[in-house]
Amino acid sequence: MGNTLDQKYVEACAWKPDIFKGKVAFITGGAGTICRVQTEALVLLGADAVILGRNQKKTEDAAAEIQKLRPGARVIGIGNVDVREVQSIAKAVEVTVKELGRIDFVIAGAAGNFLSDFNHLSSNAFKSVVSIDLLGSFNTVKACFNELKKSKGAILFVSATLHYYGVPFQSHVGAAKAGVDALSNALAVEFGPSGIRTNCIAPGAIANTEGMERLSPPGETSLDKRVPLQRLGTTQDIADATVFLFSPAASYITGTVQVVDGALWQVGSPM
Ligand code: HXC
Repeated sequence: MGNTLDQKYVEACAWKPDIFKGKVAFITGGAGTICRVQTEALVLLGADAVILGRNQKKTEDAAAEIQKLRPGARVIGIGNVDVREVQSIAKAVEVTVKELGRIDFVIAGAAGNFLSDFNHLSSNAFKSVVSIDLLGSFNTVKACFNELKKSKGAILFVSATLHYYGVPFQSHVGAAKAGVDALSNALAVEFGPSGIRTNCIAPGAIANTEGMERLSPPGETSLDKRVPLQRLGTTQDIADATVFLFSPAASYITGTVQVVDGALWQVGSPM
């Protein structure tokens, strides 16, 4: 699953190949399909990175593969990290600073999701998703804040579009992602004077991702035709927007949500 990037990305993209040289990115959920490709783009364009995940082998394997994308790159995978536990992220921050010296970019991407109607959604199930998506995003920033202050860094929360309208079977995720947007907006105002920027990226229907695999309505085969741009998104679409939001070209952009969905949400709920 997932369309990974390689050196051809650097040759074809609009950015200087070393635009992120000397920068260090810290990514929760970095072994998942979308956050992995975000990490690949940053590393290909010069950054070093630490990716965090709950599954140790998956996280370490992904880090080793991403590191191979650019000679000289350093990419560390730290497993057994649950974003619901702030101390587990704080320990990863310590490793990052010891090994790579700093943190410039944070992607709060760890997420949990499944389809469930309200009647079958237990209180604990709702709490699990809100704790991973919303509390986990808060914990990630909490643990990285001192390093971000030093580097005048930038945060990117991974949000969604499903809370712009009512999406059935997604009340837990919609509530969590609405909270993520609110968290980002508040932090943009609080952190502005410290020089830290914070934005959200809201992917739409992105092909070959865990999200699409889990969430596509049964029997849905023509979602691409409903997208005004007449295609599903790609993981590279998300990577490109990520590169922009961390680049100096976005230095006056904070407190925004960048929707990357071909205008799908404008035509209504996919479900
Ligand atoms: C109903 C479910 C369920 C399901 C779990 N639960 N799966 N309820 N339908 N399909 C319930 C359990 O019964 C339990 O409630 C509670 O949720 C917690 O489940 P656990 O398995 O104990 O929790 P945990 O191990 O922490 O797992 C968290 C998880 C799981 C969110 C439930 O799915 C997970 O780990 N997901 C991580 C990977 C993932 O989801 N990736 C998706 C990324 S894609 P009870 O009451 O029985 O105790 C994505 C795209 C978003 O996020 C895009 C939005 C458009």
